[in-house]
Amino acid sequence: MSDDVSDAAARNLPLRHSDEIQGDVLAGFRKDHETVVLLRFPDDPAPVRQWLARLIPQLATTRQVAAFNNDFSAARRNLAGTDPVGLRATWVNLSLTYSGLKFLMGTEPFPDQTQDGVKAFVLGASARADINGDGGESAPERWLFGRADQPVHAVLTVASDSRELLEVRASELRVAAAHGGLTVVFEQVGATLPGDRKGHEHFGFKDGISNPGVADFDRPDPDHPEQVAGKPGTRIVPAGEFVVGLPLLQRPDPGLPEWAKNGSFQVVRRLAQDVPAWWAQVAAARRTLDQAGVELPVGSGAEWVAARAVGRWRSGASVAHNPNAEPPTKPGAPDDNLISYADDKEGHTTPVFAHIRKTNPRDHFGPDHKVADTRRIIRRGIPYGQPFDPAAGPGHGPDADRGLVFVAYMSDLAFQFEFLQSAWINNTGFPPPGQNGKDPVIGQDSDVNLKLDTVPDGKPLHFAQFVRTEGTIYAFAPAISTLRDL
Ligand code: HEM
Repeated sequence: MSDDVSDAAARNLPLRHSDEIQGDVLAGFRKDHETVVLLRFPDDPAPVRQWLARLIPQLATTRQVAAFNNDFSAARRNLAGTDPVGLRATWVNLSLTYSGLKFLMGTEPFPDQTQDGVKAFVLGASARADINGDGGESAPERWLFGRADQPVHAVLTVASDSRELLEVRASELRVAAAHGGLTVVFEQVGATLPGDRKGHEHFGFKDGISNPGVADFDRPDPDHPEQVAGKPGTRIVPAGEFVVGLPLLQRPDPGLPEWAKNGSFQVVRRLAQDVPAWWAQVAAARRTLDQAGVELPVGSGAEWVAARAVGRWRSGASVAHNPNAEPPTKPGAPDDNLISYADDKEGHTTPVFAHIRKTNPRDHFGPDHKVADTRRIIRRGIPYGQPFDPAAGPGHGPDADRGLVFVAYMSDLAFQFEFLQSAWINNTGFPPPGQNGKDPVIGQDSDVNLKLDTVPDGKPLHFAQFVRTEGTIYAFAPAISTLRDL
């Protein structure tokens, strides 16, 4: 989770929306500790309603979280970049699965289920495994949560500044849930990695750099109104891409029921990362290039190949701007996001298969970014498990559990998350031209085709799958007033 707190002004968002939309969606909890608690309802709705009535006043809104984030980032600036220790908060959001919503509504939430995003939500993530590429070791039968035989009705997302504060709040919430007859089906605790690894995911790369800006929420740059002020390259897209019922970029409004307005669809995914195996294959790919006599920059090792797989170096510096080597980090510099692929259509600098190019092709299809901007999601993931570092003792070895609690928000599960998984990440032909392989960070087993100015036709490098899906939930974070009406 990034500590780069946005300068978003909650007051920009019309009052009605910022008090209605839950806080993690547009503002983001941005805490170092988080837990996701998956709950099952009992048969009797009466105690569940009482539980919900007591919980609603505790849920964080966009206004509260954005105001806090603004204060935090202002204080951080005054303290020359160090964290203001006195500013603390613990946030809670609630989302409901299709069966959870139906249970509380007592009626069919979506009378019309022809729209693809609604269909995905109704069926649930395990039924969409084929679309999402969840086969083999990632198949739903092996999941820790989200299996068809293991119903989940509600998802609590709790975030705080320390493990202790998180645990206190989470245990209060667990006790309250138990009083309402709810049971915990699964709980996934996450935390930013320690020390220098803070803000990085387990493979070692800085995460949380590129999230979209949101119209009427993030302040536009006066000179480049399509971008967020102070965040060059962060494009502003309409809020309806993430929140139901608000303006969309170009697709027609799917016409969801009134109760869904100001809510957001949520994907929660436990993605296990085999860190040593991924790095071993990167090193093997580097040897393949040597054996093929491919000329590479002096001193470039496995890191050079890994940066091509991600599209960024470990520090988050882009390969687009730093093709040969990782540049020294500049404290206080804005995130390296003003990236263009317009002059690199074949991917000789940033390979077209690179994770950040697969999941956001930016201007690959044209200067208006439209192809990319309509498929954006808001990512709120956090790592779980200890860093891979066998010398550091138990919990740090190759067999310990580690990975990413992937959390994302969007207004259409099929059009955004599922489309990214199926049409971009696991599609060898995306982006064109040619067949250049699946995403070598999170995609299925495939050969990627590394093209360079010196090797314009490319050199195939094998990438097996070392990110395994261990559970997925599709949920919906309703507006606060919708929750009150349930
Ligand atoms: C960006 C790693 C899963 C979508 C990134 C970045 C890293 C990364 C290092 C660059 C930092 C940034 O821009 O924030 C990972 C790892 C994953 C994972 C290790 C799994 C263990 C996913 C999944 C999706 C996804 C499942 C979507 C289905 C994106 C997007 C970006 C991104 C949209 C921003 C690209 C851009 O705008 O430049 N990821 N990711 N990631 N990732 Fe992932």
